[in-house]
Amino acid sequence: MDLAYMAKMPAEEFITRRQKLVEQMEDNSVAVVFSSQEQVRNNDCCYPFRQDSYFWYLTGFNEPDSILVITKRDGVSQVYCFLRPSDPLMETWNGRRLGIEKAPQELSINTAYAIEDFLAIFPKISQNLTALYYKKDQQSWGEILLNQLKQESAVDFPRIFDVALILDEMRLFKSTNEIALMQQAGQISALAHIRAMKEARPNRFEYELESEILHEFNRFGARYASYNSIVAAGENACILHYTENDQPMKDGDLVLIDAGCEFAMYAGDISRTFPVNGKFTQPQREIYEIVLKAQKRAIELLVAGNSIQQVNDAVVRIKVEGLVRLGILQGDVEQLIEQQAYREFYMHGLGHWLGLDVHDVGSYSQSFANGDRNSRLRDRPLEIGMVLTVEPGLYISSKSNVPEQYKGIGVRIEDNIVITEHGNKILTSAVPKEIDDIEKLMAQQ
Ligand code: GLY
Ligand code: MN
Ligand code: MN
Repeated sequence: MDLAYMAKMPAEEFITRRQKLVEQMEDNSVAVVFSSQEQVRNNDCCYPFRQDSYFWYLTGFNEPDSILVITKRDGVSQVYCFLRPSDPLMETWNGRRLGIEKAPQELSINTAYAIEDFLAIFPKISQNLTALYYKKDQQSWGEILLNQLKQESAVDFPRIFDVALILDEMRLFKSTNEIALMQQAGQISALAHIRAMKEARPNRFEYELESEILHEFNRFGARYASYNSIVAAGENACILHYTENDQPMKDGDLVLIDAGCEFAMYAGDISRTFPVNGKFTQPQREIYEIVLKAQKRAIELLVAGNSIQQVNDAVVRIKVEGLVRLGILQGDVEQLIEQQAYREFYMHGLGHWLGLDVHDVGSYSQSFANGDRNSRLRDRPLEIGMVLTVEPGLYISSKSNVPEQYKGIGVRIEDNIVITEHGNKILTSAVPKEIDDIEKLMAQQ
């Protein structure tokens, strides 16, 4: 696979997305979407810049201090961008800027203005428009600017809508171009996990495997992880979001790695669990086989028309049956499911939408379409073009009251899939998950 292929989204795709947004806006309205801003890490050092996912989705523009404004007036749309003007001195110190002159052509928009002029110009371009769309819950500079406009220039709109209600639904369905980028993210993430398996040894530290993973991401142009990598050996695997990654890995323990790269802004999200010394013990094998069976069954069932909830029900049954067989749970399978007795060992969901954000946007609930914004059910039937993770796990804390040999074992197996007309396609299949395949790969060290 040519990993340099198609790292850039074609400009037409951003135009099409903006058109789709405009189609769903009421007439005589304006949408305002804010970029991210640089975030201070300490003193005068910033975190690596990461563009706001909504802003990126509509512009493909990767600079801070920018605002996209789209007006729809008597059915006709205009697209404006406010951005940082060229500044030779600032650019010498801090990096290149697109600048106002080049922005219309580069971003395929109508007009560009300096960001400093937003408060003066916005009241003019939004004059007499009666509805505003913006991301309401953004605790951002955008919110401050809009409040300032209201107070200083009496810019107010009779109707205000959350633009995310439109954009989340659009983002949930991935285009062919997006799926190609996500395939790359999945492939690079998979290569990183393969490398970690090959590099694992007793007494190495968790961070040593993390460094192999991050290097592999970087090697292919995925400069950042799409979330903080989890490298959790032994019982650390029972801490779901363990990110300290600072412990030595013991001979005889498993290590759970949950890590994915961000490639061209799209997230990969893979978990694999494997023995530090390359050989599963019998109890580790028994727990692992339950999770693997559940994960493979889930992948069979995650097809158009089924819901995540339905598939999770099947996953829960496989796990409960397995845990009863091992004596970790005792009693009647139906009753244990009914009482949710498994939740001590499986306390998270089966998976989540994946895209520009690792926990991507979009409703999981069928009733959302009917206006119910509060439902927590994951009963929405899957549709072609949705991308999601499938990540069952079992976590047997040493504090739990179970047979001794299973204590401290945590296993999660996570892949990324896209729903297709033929079922689904696994984007992360390059990294092994069968016990024999993992042991064979690790024996090649
Ligand atoms: N890595 C975060 C998750 O799996 O949801
Ligand atoms: Mn994950
Ligand atoms: Mn995940």
